[in-house]
Amino acid sequence: MANIHSSPHPLVAHKLTLLRDKRTEPKKFRELIREMAALLAYEATADLVLQAKQVETPLAETTGSELKEKIGLVPILRAGLGMVEGIWNLMPSAEVWHIGLYRDERTLKPVEYYNKLPVEPTIALCLILDPMLATGGSAVATVDVLKRWGVHKIKFVGILGAPEGLALMEKQHPEVPIHLAAVDERLNERGYILPGLGDAGDRQFGTG
Ligand code: URA
Repeated sequence: MANIHSSPHPLVAHKLTLLRDKRTEPKKFRELIREMAALLAYEATADLVLQAKQVETPLAETTGSELKEKIGLVPILRAGLGMVEGIWNLMPSAEVWHIGLYRDERTLKPVEYYNKLPVEPTIALCLILDPMLATGGSAVATVDVLKRWGVHKIKFVGILGAPEGLALMEKQHPEVPIHLAAVDERLNERGYILPGLGDAGDRQFGTG
């Protein structure tokens, strides 16, 4: 699938293995999510548009660059929250917009329960953050919301993807690039990614 980018970076692979390990405690798990989110966002933003900016060094004036477009980070609650901080440190002028979706455990379909987006879009590029692209239901629903809001440049940044979720995104939103640490084998009957890392929300927040 053309728009899926699995990170080739050794640091990402190393940290992913620590994240998968069931013995990894919530504190370390949160730290790894934060670090991996930053590494993956670094890769996902390699094509950001720049504009020229004059700057005075202590010695001379020169032409530098600044980001041209306003970026929005859109964590999908609640597991996406842990990905915000690491990325926000890299781009402190980004806006953070929250969209709350939960997965109905029976239907496995996303239910929207929180959305305070203003009428007009305030950002040009959105990075949707969710560690797990499992069935793809939440990712597709979030892209739907952002497109309705009027944002046209959207990317998804996550940690693990399942072929089922990737296929759904490819079908519904083929132009949205997906940046992941890895693509796993499949979903189990409860919609969890295998081999995966378990419930990314529970493991971050200690609620498992
Ligand atoms: N959400 C999770 O947290 N883990 C999975 O494996 C799938 C969805």
